Amino acid sequence: MAKQYFIDTMGCQMNERDSETIAGILHSCGYRPAPAPAEADFIALNTCAVRAKPVHKVFSKLGELRRIKQQHPGTVIAVLGCVVQVAAQEIARRAPYVDIILGPRNYSQLAQAIATVERTSAPGEPVVVTDSGETIPEGLPVLRSTPVSAFVNVTYGCNNFCAYCIVPYARGREQSRAVSEIISEIEQAVAEGYKEVTLLGQNVNSYGKESRQECRSYQRVLGSGQGGPSHTVMSREKGYAFADLLAEVSRVEGLERIRFTTSHPKDLSLELLDAMAELPRVCEHLHLPIQSGDDDVLARMGRGYTYEQYCNLIEAARQRIPRVSITTDVMVGFPGETEAQFDNTLRAFEEIRFDQAFMFKYNDRPGTRAADFPDKVPEETKQARLERLVARQNEIGRQINEKLVGQSFEVLVEAPDPKSAGKVRGRTRTNKLVIFPGKPSLVGELVAVQTQEAYLWGFLGEIARQP
Ligand code: SAH
Ligand code: SF4
Ligand code: F3S
Repeated sequence: MAKQYFIDTMGCQMNERDSETIAGILHSCGYRPAPAPAEADFIALNTCAVRAKPVHKVFSKLGELRRIKQQHPGTVIAVLGCVVQVAAQEIARRAPYVDIILGPRNYSQLAQAIATVERTSAPGEPVVVTDSGETIPEGLPVLRSTPVSAFVNVTYGCNNFCAYCIVPYARGREQSRAVSEIISEIEQAVAEGYKEVTLLGQNVNSYGKESRQECRSYQRVLGSGQGGPSHTVMSREKGYAFADLLAEVSRVEGLERIRFTTSHPKDLSLELLDAMAELPRVCEHLHLPIQSGDDDVLARMGRGYTYEQYCNLIEAARQRIPRVSITTDVMVGFPGETEAQFDNTLRAFEEIRFDQAFMFKYNDRPGTRAADFPDKVPEETKQARLERLVARQNEIGRQINEKLVGQSFEVLVEAPDPKSAGKVRGRTRTNKLVIFPGKPSLVGELVAVQTQEAYLWGFLGEIARQP
Protein backbone atom coordinates (compact mmCIF):
# COMPACT_ATOMS: atom_id res chain seq x y z
CA MET A 1 0.00 0.00 0.00
CA ALA A 2 1.18 3.54 -0.80
CA LYS A 3 2.51 5.72 1.99
CA GLN A 4 -0.02 8.31 3.11
CA TYR A 5 0.18 12.03 3.90
CA PHE A 6 -1.91 14.53 5.83
CA ILE A 7 -1.53 18.30 5.41
CA ASP A 8 -2.95 20.71 8.01
CA THR A 9 -3.19 24.19 6.47
CA MET A 10 -3.50 27.36 8.54
CA GLY A 11 -3.54 31.00 7.38
CA CYS A 12 -4.43 32.67 4.11
CA GLN A 13 -5.04 31.64 0.51
CA MET A 14 -1.28 31.83 -0.16
CA ASN A 15 -0.85 28.95 2.25
CA GLU A 16 -3.79 27.10 0.71
CA ARG A 17 -2.13 27.40 -2.68
CA ASP A 18 1.23 26.33 -1.23
CA SER A 19 -0.43 23.26 0.30
CA GLU A 20 -1.52 22.29 -3.21
CA THR A 21 2.12 22.38 -4.25
CA ILE A 22 3.12 20.42 -1.13
CA ALA A 23 0.45 17.80 -2.02
CA GLY A 24 1.75 17.70 -5.61
CA ILE A 25 5.31 17.10 -4.40
CA LEU A 26 4.18 14.38 -1.97
CA HIS A 27 2.29 12.65 -4.80
CA SER A 28 5.36 12.72 -6.97
CA CYS A 29 7.26 11.12 -4.05
CA GLY A 30 4.70 8.25 -4.01
CA TYR A 31 2.43 9.42 -1.17
CA ARG A 32 -1.38 9.42 -1.28
CA PRO A 33 -3.82 11.32 1.00
CA ALA A 34 -4.63 9.85 4.43
CA PRO A 35 -8.10 10.21 5.94
CA ALA A 36 -6.72 11.39 9.33
CA PRO A 37 -3.35 12.41 10.80
CA ALA A 38 -3.11 9.26 12.97
CA GLU A 39 -3.12 7.13 9.81
CA ALA A 40 -0.53 9.18 7.93
CA ASP A 41 3.13 8.32 7.35
CA PHE A 42 3.85 12.00 6.64
CA ILE A 43 2.20 14.89 8.51
CA ALA A 44 2.77 18.47 7.40
CA LEU A 45 1.72 21.60 9.29
CA ASN A 46 1.55 24.56 6.91
CA THR A 47 1.77 27.42 9.39
CA CYS A 48 0.72 31.09 9.66
CA ALA A 49 2.55 33.77 11.67
CA VAL A 50 0.31 36.79 11.11
CA ARG A 51 -1.10 36.92 14.65
CA ALA A 52 -0.20 35.28 17.98
CA LYS A 53 -3.17 32.88 17.90
CA PRO A 54 -2.19 30.85 14.81
CA VAL A 55 1.38 30.65 16.12
CA HIS A 56 0.15 29.24 19.45
CA LYS A 57 -1.96 26.81 17.46
CA VAL A 58 1.17 25.47 15.74
CA PHE A 59 2.84 24.69 19.06
CA SER A 60 -0.29 23.11 20.52
CA LYS A 61 -0.68 20.97 17.38
CA LEU A 62 2.97 19.97 17.69
CA GLY A 63 2.15 18.78 21.23
CA GLU A 64 -0.54 16.49 19.78
CA LEU A 65 1.84 15.24 17.10
CA ARG A 66 4.37 14.26 19.76
CA ARG A 67 1.88 11.60 20.92
CA ILE A 68 1.44 10.29 17.36
CA LYS A 69 5.22 10.19 16.97
CA GLN A 70 5.57 8.24 20.25
CA GLN A 71 3.05 5.64 19.05
CA HIS A 72 4.38 5.52 15.46
CA PRO A 73 8.04 6.60 15.51
CA GLY A 74 8.26 6.13 11.72
CA THR A 75 5.83 8.99 11.02
CA VAL A 76 7.60 11.93 9.37
CA ILE A 77 6.59 15.32 10.77
CA ALA A 78 7.19 18.46 8.72
CA VAL A 79 6.64 22.05 9.79
CA LEU A 80 6.29 24.32 6.75
CA GLY A 81 5.03 27.82 5.98
CA CYS A 82 5.38 31.26 7.49
CA VAL A 83 6.22 30.43 11.12
CA VAL A 84 9.30 28.53 9.91
CA GLN A 85 10.87 31.58 8.31
CA VAL A 86 10.61 33.58 11.56
CA ALA A 87 10.98 30.85 14.22
CA ALA A 88 12.82 27.79 12.80
CA GLN A 89 15.11 27.47 15.80
CA GLU A 90 12.28 27.75 18.29
CA ILE A 91 10.44 24.93 16.48
CA ALA A 92 13.55 22.72 16.56
CA ARG A 93 14.08 23.46 20.26
CA ARG A 94 10.48 23.04 21.42
CA ALA A 95 9.65 20.06 19.18
CA PRO A 96 12.87 18.08 18.67
CA TYR A 97 10.87 15.19 17.18
CA VAL A 98 10.09 17.26 14.04
CA ASP A 99 11.90 15.86 10.98
CA ILE A 100 11.62 18.67 8.42
CA ILE A 101 11.49 22.44 9.02
CA LEU A 102 11.16 24.22 5.68
CA GLY A 103 10.14 27.81 4.89
CA PRO A 104 7.52 29.12 2.45
CA ARG A 105 10.02 30.10 -0.25
CA ASN A 106 11.73 26.71 -0.27
CA TYR A 107 9.24 24.21 -1.64
CA SER A 108 11.59 23.47 -4.54
CA GLN A 109 13.77 21.75 -1.91
CA LEU A 110 10.98 19.75 -0.27
CA ALA A 111 11.35 16.57 -2.36
CA GLN A 112 15.04 16.48 -1.51
CA ALA A 113 14.31 16.99 2.21
CA ILE A 114 11.80 14.12 2.12
CA ALA A 115 14.36 11.84 0.42
CA THR A 116 16.98 12.74 3.06
CA VAL A 117 14.61 11.94 5.94
CA GLU A 118 13.46 8.69 4.30
CA ARG A 119 17.11 7.57 3.95
CA THR A 120 17.96 8.09 7.61
CA SER A 121 16.04 5.64 9.77
CA ALA A 122 17.38 6.75 13.18
CA PRO A 123 15.93 9.95 14.65
CA GLY A 124 18.38 12.80 14.58
CA GLU A 125 18.68 16.45 13.72
CA PRO A 126 15.83 17.82 11.59
CA VAL A 127 16.43 18.91 8.00
CA VAL A 128 16.12 22.71 8.18
CA VAL A 129 15.71 24.80 5.01
CA THR A 130 14.90 28.50 5.21
CA ASP A 131 15.00 31.22 2.61
CA SER A 132 18.26 31.97 0.96
CA GLY A 133 16.85 34.65 -1.34
CA GLU A 134 16.38 32.33 -4.28
CA THR A 135 14.26 33.23 -7.27
CA ILE A 136 10.68 32.05 -7.80
CA PRO A 137 10.51 28.30 -8.31
CA GLU A 138 8.47 27.45 -11.39
CA GLY A 139 7.24 24.11 -12.60
CA LEU A 140 6.61 22.47 -9.20
CA PRO A 141 3.82 19.89 -9.28
CA VAL A 142 0.39 20.95 -8.02
CA LEU A 143 -2.56 18.94 -6.79
CA ARG A 144 -5.45 21.38 -6.62
CA SER A 145 -7.92 21.00 -3.78
CA THR A 146 -10.23 23.98 -4.18
CA PRO A 147 -13.56 22.97 -5.73
CA VAL A 148 -14.14 25.51 -8.48
CA SER A 149 -11.70 28.41 -8.20
CA ALA A 150 -8.05 27.75 -8.97
CA PHE A 151 -5.58 29.80 -6.93
CA VAL A 152 -2.74 31.23 -9.00
CA ASN A 153 0.11 33.27 -7.50
CA VAL A 154 1.04 36.44 -9.34
CA THR A 155 3.45 37.88 -6.79
CA TYR A 156 5.37 36.33 -3.92
CA GLY A 157 6.48 38.19 -0.80
CA CYS A 158 5.91 41.80 0.19
CA ASN A 159 8.03 44.96 0.30
CA ASN A 160 5.66 47.21 2.22
CA PHE A 161 6.73 46.54 5.79
CA CYS A 162 3.57 47.94 7.36
CA ALA A 163 4.63 48.60 10.96
CA TYR A 164 2.55 45.78 12.47
CA CYS A 165 3.09 43.06 9.89
CA ILE A 166 5.22 39.93 9.95
CA VAL A 167 4.50 38.90 6.34
CA PRO A 168 7.54 40.63 4.74
CA TYR A 169 9.77 38.75 7.21
CA ALA A 170 7.96 35.46 6.68
CA ARG A 171 7.61 35.65 2.90
CA GLY A 172 10.61 37.71 1.86
CA ARG A 173 10.94 40.33 -0.86
CA GLU A 174 8.29 40.86 -3.47
CA GLN A 175 8.78 39.15 -6.79
CA SER A 176 6.38 39.08 -9.73
CA ARG A 177 5.97 35.91 -11.72
CA ALA A 178 6.47 36.09 -15.47
CA VAL A 179 3.26 36.65 -17.44
CA SER A 180 3.93 33.51 -19.50
CA GLU A 181 4.16 31.34 -16.34
CA ILE A 182 0.92 32.75 -14.95
CA ILE A 183 -0.92 32.24 -18.23
CA SER A 184 0.30 28.70 -18.67
CA GLU A 185 -0.74 27.79 -15.11
CA ILE A 186 -4.21 29.23 -15.80
CA GLU A 187 -4.48 27.38 -19.13
CA GLN A 188 -3.61 24.17 -17.32
CA ALA A 189 -6.26 24.83 -14.64
CA VAL A 190 -8.88 25.54 -17.31
CA ALA A 191 -7.90 22.29 -19.07
CA GLU A 192 -8.57 20.53 -15.73
CA GLY A 193 -12.09 22.01 -15.75
CA TYR A 194 -11.71 25.18 -13.65
CA LYS A 195 -13.97 28.04 -14.74
CA GLU A 196 -12.65 30.57 -12.20
CA VAL A 197 -9.21 31.69 -11.08
CA THR A 198 -8.21 33.75 -8.06
CA LEU A 199 -4.96 35.63 -8.63
CA LEU A 200 -2.99 35.87 -5.41
CA GLY A 201 -0.46 38.34 -4.02
CA GLN A 202 0.01 40.36 -0.83
CA ASN A 203 -0.35 43.44 -2.98
CA VAL A 204 -1.42 42.43 -6.48
CA ASN A 205 -1.52 46.06 -7.57
CA SER A 206 2.24 46.24 -7.43
CA TYR A 207 2.49 43.37 -9.93
CA GLY A 208 5.34 44.06 -12.33
CA LYS A 209 6.58 47.02 -10.30
CA GLU A 210 10.18 45.83 -10.46
CA SER A 211 10.08 45.84 -14.25
CA ARG A 212 8.15 49.12 -14.44
CA GLN A 213 10.89 50.77 -12.41
CA GLU A 214 13.44 49.24 -14.74
CA CYS A 215 11.34 50.58 -17.59
CA ARG A 216 11.16 54.14 -16.25
CA SER A 217 14.89 54.33 -15.89
CA TYR A 218 15.18 52.89 -19.40
CA GLN A 219 12.94 55.68 -20.68
CA ARG A 220 14.99 58.26 -18.82
CA VAL A 221 18.14 56.92 -20.42
CA LEU A 222 16.44 57.26 -23.79
CA GLY A 223 15.38 60.80 -22.88
CA SER A 224 11.77 60.02 -23.78
CA GLY A 225 9.35 59.56 -20.90
CA GLN A 226 6.35 60.77 -22.90
CA GLY A 227 5.62 57.62 -24.81
CA GLY A 228 2.37 56.72 -23.06
CA PRO A 229 2.11 53.84 -20.63
CA SER A 230 5.52 52.48 -19.84
CA HIS A 231 4.76 48.94 -20.99
CA THR A 232 4.43 50.06 -24.61
CA VAL A 233 8.19 50.31 -24.90
CA MET A 234 8.90 47.06 -23.15
CA SER A 235 8.88 43.49 -24.35
CA ARG A 236 5.88 41.27 -23.56
CA GLU A 237 7.53 40.02 -20.39
CA LYS A 238 8.63 43.41 -19.07
CA GLY A 239 6.92 46.47 -17.70
CA TYR A 240 3.52 44.95 -17.09
CA ALA A 241 1.06 46.49 -14.70
CA PHE A 242 -1.61 44.45 -12.99
CA ALA A 243 -4.31 45.89 -15.29
CA ASP A 244 -2.35 44.57 -18.29
CA LEU A 245 -2.10 41.18 -16.65
CA LEU A 246 -5.88 41.09 -16.12
CA ALA A 247 -6.39 41.84 -19.81
CA GLU A 248 -4.04 39.02 -20.73
CA VAL A 249 -5.69 36.55 -18.34
CA SER A 250 -9.08 37.55 -19.76
CA ARG A 251 -7.99 36.18 -23.11
CA VAL A 252 -7.58 32.63 -21.82
CA GLU A 253 -10.21 30.61 -23.62
CA GLY A 254 -12.73 28.76 -21.46
CA LEU A 255 -12.14 30.90 -18.37
CA GLU A 256 -15.37 32.44 -17.07
CA ARG A 257 -14.39 34.38 -13.97
CA ILE A 258 -11.31 36.16 -12.67
CA ARG A 259 -10.87 37.20 -9.05
CA PHE A 260 -7.84 38.67 -7.33
CA THR A 261 -6.67 39.48 -3.82
CA THR A 262 -5.25 41.48 -2.05
CA SER A 263 -5.36 45.04 -3.36
CA HIS A 264 -3.38 47.71 -1.54
CA PRO A 265 -4.93 51.20 -1.53
CA LYS A 266 -1.58 52.88 -2.04
CA ASP A 267 -1.02 51.06 -5.34
CA LEU A 268 -4.57 50.64 -6.65
CA SER A 269 -4.72 52.57 -9.93
CA LEU A 270 -7.68 54.02 -11.80
CA GLU A 271 -6.45 51.98 -14.77
CA LEU A 272 -7.09 48.85 -12.74
CA LEU A 273 -10.62 49.98 -11.86
CA ASP A 274 -11.18 50.74 -15.57
CA ALA A 275 -9.92 47.27 -16.44
CA MET A 276 -12.31 45.73 -13.90
CA ALA A 277 -15.15 47.70 -15.47
CA GLU A 278 -14.22 46.85 -19.05
CA LEU A 279 -13.20 43.20 -18.83
CA PRO A 280 -16.39 41.15 -18.54
CA ARG A 281 -14.69 38.12 -16.99
CA VAL A 282 -13.22 40.10 -14.08
CA CYS A 283 -15.62 39.80 -11.14
CA GLU A 284 -17.20 42.85 -9.50
CA HIS A 285 -15.51 42.39 -6.16
CA LEU A 286 -12.76 44.47 -4.62
CA HIS A 287 -11.04 43.46 -1.39
CA LEU A 288 -9.34 46.63 -0.23
CA PRO A 289 -7.96 46.56 3.33
CA ILE A 290 -8.48 49.91 5.07
CA GLN A 291 -6.83 48.89 8.41
CA SER A 292 -7.94 52.15 10.10
CA GLY A 293 -10.16 55.16 9.37
CA ASP A 294 -7.80 57.57 11.13
CA ASP A 295 -5.00 59.40 9.33
CA ASP A 296 -2.59 59.44 12.30
CA VAL A 297 -3.00 55.73 12.85
CA LEU A 298 -2.62 55.05 9.11
CA ALA A 299 0.59 57.09 9.10
CA ARG A 300 2.00 55.25 12.11
CA MET A 301 1.08 51.96 10.44
CA GLY A 302 3.07 53.10 7.40
CA ARG A 303 0.18 52.39 5.04
CA GLY A 304 0.94 55.21 2.60
CA TYR A 305 -2.59 56.65 2.15
CA THR A 306 -5.05 58.87 4.01
CA TYR A 307 -8.69 58.17 4.73
CA GLU A 308 -9.66 60.68 2.05
CA GLN A 309 -7.52 58.98 -0.57
CA TYR A 310 -9.05 55.66 0.40
CA CYS A 311 -12.57 57.10 0.02
CA ASN A 312 -11.71 58.49 -3.41
CA LEU A 313 -10.77 54.99 -4.56
CA ILE A 314 -14.05 53.57 -3.24
CA GLU A 315 -15.99 56.28 -5.02
CA ALA A 316 -14.10 55.70 -8.25
CA ALA A 317 -14.76 51.95 -8.01
CA ARG A 318 -18.47 52.44 -7.35
CA GLN A 319 -18.78 54.91 -10.25
CA ARG A 320 -17.12 52.61 -12.72
CA ILE A 321 -18.30 49.17 -11.66
CA PRO A 322 -22.06 48.76 -11.17
CA ARG A 323 -22.97 46.37 -8.34
CA VAL A 324 -19.33 46.16 -7.15
CA SER A 325 -19.00 44.63 -3.70
CA ILE A 326 -16.30 45.98 -1.45
CA THR A 327 -14.73 44.07 1.41
CA THR A 328 -11.94 45.05 3.77
CA ASP A 329 -9.56 44.16 6.59
CA VAL A 330 -9.32 46.37 9.67
CA MET A 331 -7.47 46.38 12.94
CA VAL A 332 -8.47 47.92 16.27
CA GLY A 333 -6.18 48.84 19.14
CA PHE A 334 -3.05 49.67 17.16
CA PRO A 335 -0.45 51.11 19.62
CA GLY A 336 -1.47 54.62 20.62
CA GLU A 337 -4.99 54.36 19.13
CA THR A 338 -7.18 56.74 21.16
CA GLU A 339 -10.92 56.47 21.60
CA ALA A 340 -11.34 59.34 19.13
CA GLN A 341 -9.13 57.58 16.58
CA PHE A 342 -11.14 54.39 16.97
CA ASP A 343 -14.31 56.47 16.48
CA ASN A 344 -12.87 57.55 13.13
CA THR A 345 -12.72 53.90 12.12
CA LEU A 346 -16.33 53.39 13.21
CA ARG A 347 -17.34 56.49 11.27
CA ALA A 348 -15.45 55.25 8.21
CA PHE A 349 -17.46 52.02 8.37
CA GLU A 350 -20.69 54.05 8.55
CA GLU A 351 -19.66 56.19 5.59
CA ILE A 352 -18.24 53.54 3.31
CA ARG A 353 -20.61 50.67 4.12
CA PHE A 354 -18.53 47.60 3.34
CA ASP A 355 -20.21 44.43 2.16
CA GLN A 356 -18.01 42.44 4.53
CA ALA A 357 -15.03 43.05 6.80
CA PHE A 358 -12.38 40.91 8.44
CA MET A 359 -11.84 42.59 11.78
CA PHE A 360 -8.87 41.98 14.06
CA LYS A 361 -7.42 43.13 17.36
CA TYR A 362 -3.88 44.42 16.89
CA ASN A 363 -1.29 41.88 18.02
CA ASP A 364 2.41 42.45 18.67
CA ARG A 365 4.54 40.53 16.20
CA PRO A 366 8.12 40.22 17.45
CA GLY A 367 10.60 41.97 15.18
CA THR A 368 8.09 44.41 13.64
CA ARG A 369 8.34 48.17 14.28
CA ALA A 370 4.97 48.41 16.02
CA ALA A 371 6.03 45.81 18.58
CA ASP A 372 8.38 48.49 19.97
CA PHE A 373 5.84 51.35 19.81
CA PRO A 374 4.77 52.87 23.15
CA ASP A 375 1.20 53.24 24.42
CA LYS A 376 -0.02 49.73 23.88
CA VAL A 377 -3.80 49.53 24.10
CA PRO A 378 -5.01 47.26 26.94
CA GLU A 379 -6.56 43.95 25.91
CA GLU A 380 -10.01 44.82 27.37
CA THR A 381 -10.11 48.08 25.41
CA LYS A 382 -9.17 46.26 22.19
CA GLN A 383 -11.84 43.64 22.86
CA ALA A 384 -14.50 46.29 23.56
CA ARG A 385 -13.59 48.20 20.38
CA LEU A 386 -13.66 45.03 18.30
CA GLU A 387 -17.09 44.11 19.64
CA ARG A 388 -18.49 47.56 18.84
CA LEU A 389 -17.10 47.50 15.33
CA VAL A 390 -18.25 43.93 14.64
CA ALA A 391 -21.77 44.71 15.88
CA ARG A 392 -22.03 47.75 13.64
CA GLN A 393 -20.55 46.04 10.59
CA ASN A 394 -22.88 43.07 11.04
CA GLU A 395 -25.87 45.41 10.85
CA ILE A 396 -24.50 47.14 7.78
CA GLY A 397 -23.64 43.89 6.00
CA ARG A 398 -27.11 42.48 6.65
CA GLN A 399 -28.80 45.67 5.45
CA ILE A 400 -26.77 45.63 2.22
CA ASN A 401 -27.77 42.02 1.56
CA GLU A 402 -31.43 42.71 2.40
CA LYS A 403 -31.54 45.33 -0.37
CA LEU A 404 -30.40 42.66 -2.83
CA VAL A 405 -33.27 40.25 -2.13
CA GLY A 406 -35.32 39.43 -5.21
CA GLN A 407 -32.47 40.09 -7.64
CA SER A 408 -30.97 37.49 -9.93
CA PHE A 409 -27.29 36.63 -9.64
CA GLU A 410 -24.99 34.37 -11.62
CA VAL A 411 -23.76 31.73 -9.15
CA LEU A 412 -20.85 29.37 -9.72
CA VAL A 413 -21.82 26.24 -7.79
CA GLU A 414 -19.08 25.03 -5.43
CA ALA A 415 -20.48 22.04 -3.56
CA PRO A 416 -23.55 20.34 -2.14
CA ASP A 417 -24.51 22.26 1.00
CA PRO A 418 -23.19 20.22 3.92
CA LYS A 419 -25.98 21.37 6.23
CA SER A 420 -29.10 20.93 4.09
CA ALA A 421 -29.92 17.92 1.93
CA GLY A 422 -30.98 18.65 -1.63
CA LYS A 423 -29.28 22.05 -1.67
CA VAL A 424 -26.06 23.34 -3.21
CA ARG A 425 -23.91 26.36 -2.45
CA GLY A 426 -21.97 28.74 -4.62
CA ARG A 427 -20.78 32.31 -5.03
CA THR A 428 -22.01 35.31 -6.95
CA ARG A 429 -19.53 37.33 -9.00
CA THR A 430 -19.62 39.76 -6.06
CA ASN A 431 -18.34 36.91 -3.86
CA LYS A 432 -21.52 36.40 -1.85
CA LEU A 433 -22.53 32.95 -0.73
CA VAL A 434 -25.87 31.64 -2.03
CA ILE A 435 -27.55 28.37 -0.97
CA PHE A 436 -30.37 27.02 -3.10
CA PRO A 437 -32.18 23.78 -3.95
CA GLY A 438 -30.27 21.94 -6.65
CA LYS A 439 -28.71 18.63 -7.63
CA PRO A 440 -25.05 17.82 -6.91
CA SER A 441 -24.59 17.59 -10.70
CA LEU A 442 -24.73 21.42 -10.72
CA VAL A 443 -21.29 21.64 -9.06
CA GLY A 444 -18.97 23.57 -11.36
CA GLU A 445 -21.88 25.07 -13.33
CA LEU A 446 -22.94 28.72 -13.65
CA VAL A 447 -26.57 29.07 -12.63
CA ALA A 448 -28.88 32.13 -12.47
CA VAL A 449 -30.27 32.26 -8.93
CA GLN A 450 -32.84 34.61 -7.47
CA THR A 451 -32.14 35.62 -3.87
CA GLN A 452 -35.05 35.13 -1.47
CA GLU A 453 -33.76 35.63 2.08
CA ALA A 454 -30.80 37.72 3.19
CA TYR A 455 -28.42 36.85 6.02
CA LEU A 456 -25.10 38.20 7.15
CA TRP A 457 -23.34 35.27 5.47
CA GLY A 458 -25.24 35.60 2.17
CA PHE A 459 -28.55 34.38 0.78
CA LEU A 460 -31.03 31.58 0.47
CA GLY A 461 -32.33 31.52 -3.08
CA GLU A 462 -33.96 29.57 -5.88
CA ILE A 463 -32.96 28.90 -9.47
CA ALA A 464 -34.29 31.84 -11.45
CA ARG A 465 -37.10 31.10 -13.88
CA GLN A 466 -36.14 31.68 -17.50
CA PRO A 467 -37.57 34.96 -18.79
N1 SAH B 1 -1.41 42.04 2.28
C1 SAH B 1 -2.62 42.31 2.92
C2 SAH B 1 -2.76 41.73 4.28
C3 SAH B 1 -2.21 40.41 4.67
S1 SAH B 1 -2.37 39.98 6.37
C4 SAH B 1 -2.77 43.84 3.04
O1 SAH B 1 -1.87 44.58 2.83
O2 SAH B 1 -3.81 44.27 3.44
C5 SAH B 1 -4.14 39.94 6.57
C6 SAH B 1 -4.67 40.89 7.59
O3 SAH B 1 -4.22 40.54 8.88
C7 SAH B 1 -4.22 42.32 7.44
O4 SAH B 1 -4.95 43.01 6.48
C8 SAH B 1 -4.42 42.89 8.82
O5 SAH B 1 -5.69 43.44 8.96
C9 SAH B 1 -4.25 41.67 9.70
N2 SAH B 1 -2.99 41.77 10.45
C10 SAH B 1 -1.74 41.79 9.97
N3 SAH B 1 -0.84 41.92 10.97
C11 SAH B 1 -1.55 41.98 12.12
C12 SAH B 1 -1.21 42.15 13.48
N4 SAH B 1 0.06 42.30 13.88
N5 SAH B 1 -2.21 42.17 14.39
C13 SAH B 1 -3.50 42.03 14.02
N6 SAH B 1 -3.89 41.89 12.74
C14 SAH B 1 -2.93 41.87 11.78
FE1 SF4 C 1 1.62 43.03 5.56
FE2 SF4 C 1 1.41 45.50 4.67
FE3 SF4 C 1 2.58 43.64 3.16
FE4 SF4 C 1 -0.05 43.54 3.57
S1 SF4 C 1 1.07 45.16 2.48
S2 SF4 C 1 1.40 41.84 3.70
S3 SF4 C 1 -0.25 44.29 5.65
S4 SF4 C 1 3.34 44.44 5.09
FE1 F3S D 1 -0.66 34.17 4.94
FE2 F3S D 1 -0.31 33.92 7.52
FE3 F3S D 1 1.75 33.71 5.93
S1 F3S D 1 -1.69 35.29 6.54
S2 F3S D 1 1.27 34.97 4.19
S3 F3S D 1 -0.03 32.36 5.99
S4 F3S D 1 1.73 34.75 7.86
